Amino acid sequence: MASWRIRDFHDDDLDQVVRIWEESRKTGVEPVYGLAEILAAIRDEGAAVVVVVGPIVVGACVARVNGDRAWVNLLALADDWRGRGLGSTMLTELEKRLTARGVHRLAALLPEGETGVDAFRNRGYATRALVYFERVVPLQPQEVGRLEQLGGHMLPDNLWNALAGMEREKMIIERRLVLPLSDPDLADEFGVLPPRSVVLFGPPGTGKTTFAKAVASRLGWPFVEVLPSRLAAEGPGLALALHDTFGEIADLEHAVVFIDEVEEIAAERGGRPPSPTQGVTNELLKCISAFREKEGRILICATNFVRALDPAFLRHGRFDYVIPIGPPDATARRAIWVRYVPDPVAELVDLDALVEASNLFTPADIEYAARKASQRALESAVYDQADVGRDTRGPRTEDYLAALADTRSTLTDTIVAEFDEDIARIARL
Ligand SMILES: Nc1ncnc2c1ncn2[C@@H]1O[C@H](COP(=O)(O)OP(=O)(O)O)[C@@H](O)[C@H]1O
Ligand SMILES: [Mg+2]
Repeated sequence: MASWRIRDFHDDDLDQVVRIWEESRKTGVEPVYGLAEILAAIRDEGAAVVVVVGPIVVGACVARVNGDRAWVNLLALADDWRGRGLGSTMLTELEKRLTARGVHRLAALLPEGETGVDAFRNRGYATRALVYFERVVPLQPQEVGRLEQLGGHMLPDNLWNALAGMEREKMIIERRLVLPLSDPDLADEFGVLPPRSVVLFGPPGTGKTTFAKAVASRLGWPFVEVLPSRLAAEGPGLALALHDTFGEIADLEHAVVFIDEVEEIAAERGGRPPSPTQGVTNELLKCISAFREKEGRILICATNFVRALDPAFLRHGRFDYVIPIGPPDATARRAIWVRYVPDPVAELVDLDALVEASNLFTPADIEYAARKASQRALESAVYDQADVGRDTRGPRTEDYLAALADTRSTLTDTIVAEFDEDIARIARL
């Protein structure tokens, strides 16, 4: 076989290095570094050597330099040149250049089974039992600007767990939405079409917005809220603004799109004379149809007044599910209280009493009352003489009960009865 030699990388080698990188990917092992990162390493004063046979590049080795540490992020050879010790030779040459620049710690991350592994072993690299964490944010660089325009963003990834109680709702949403959306291949295997649009309904403060965000957080998709009020303020007609907004959303690879208080733009039709929002409702219907054509996204509409919605609006082909987000039952209320009662006093607080006294309170009401009790306890611990020197600090059961007595519950028996009617008549799970 022709003779080879090793030399420094030149800019003219770039195309050939890309070709080598592509060839090295045929091993079927997903590499740790993408091509863009490797090229960036070369560009940003990294070190790079190539093996050439005449004018042909048959191998390349690249490292990014970071202070006294270098990360080798490419070690690749053309098929015919593997298994001859060329990998180790390239590494040796690269190391010489790196140590001359003051690097004394060399590291590499390789997937198990990758061809370069032997070269590192032969060069005396020790493996360390580290855990490599990786999370891929499904946002293309070109989507970032678009998302910003839409007022959308990526949410922190712990919102689902922060949802206390609500086990029934969580189970439905987990199974019907999160499961098929997060694993479309599995869904397909079972003939399940992942949902494209759903409605969440229930009294105010029960957690509809919180659930929508938690779904985005669970899926790792950007959250985009479509705000009719903001669109209206923008000018040339709400219908047109809706149209444009959904047009922009269509460019996103993934998204959880949220419309709160959807009844405002989709109230019952057929009034005489037709209501001024008729055109807007019609536009929304068109937007939803178009939205449903593309996978990888979900539209979540929320409403406190599901009965104000046109029954035609809620039909099958338009929304896959119409899901009630109900008042929290005793178990859910307990979980929500546990969330807000601070650890040091948790043992001393009579949770049963709080759960009992917060019947008809929504999660939002409980949060409000709990924070009020905490604030008052803090103030009295600091300013009230009677409290100074008390052996336990922090809110007590009486503080919580007083705060509850002082907070008006959002729910009434009538609201709960109406909600139950709505579930029987309208919910679709
Ligand atoms: N299950 C829950 N656990 C803890 N806090 C909750 C829960 N549900 C709602 N909250 C809190 O209640 C407030 C109102 O919830 P939200 O989702 O806006 O209700 P909705 O959209 O149904 O009116 C939020 O501050 C949220 O943090
Ligand atoms: Mg809300």
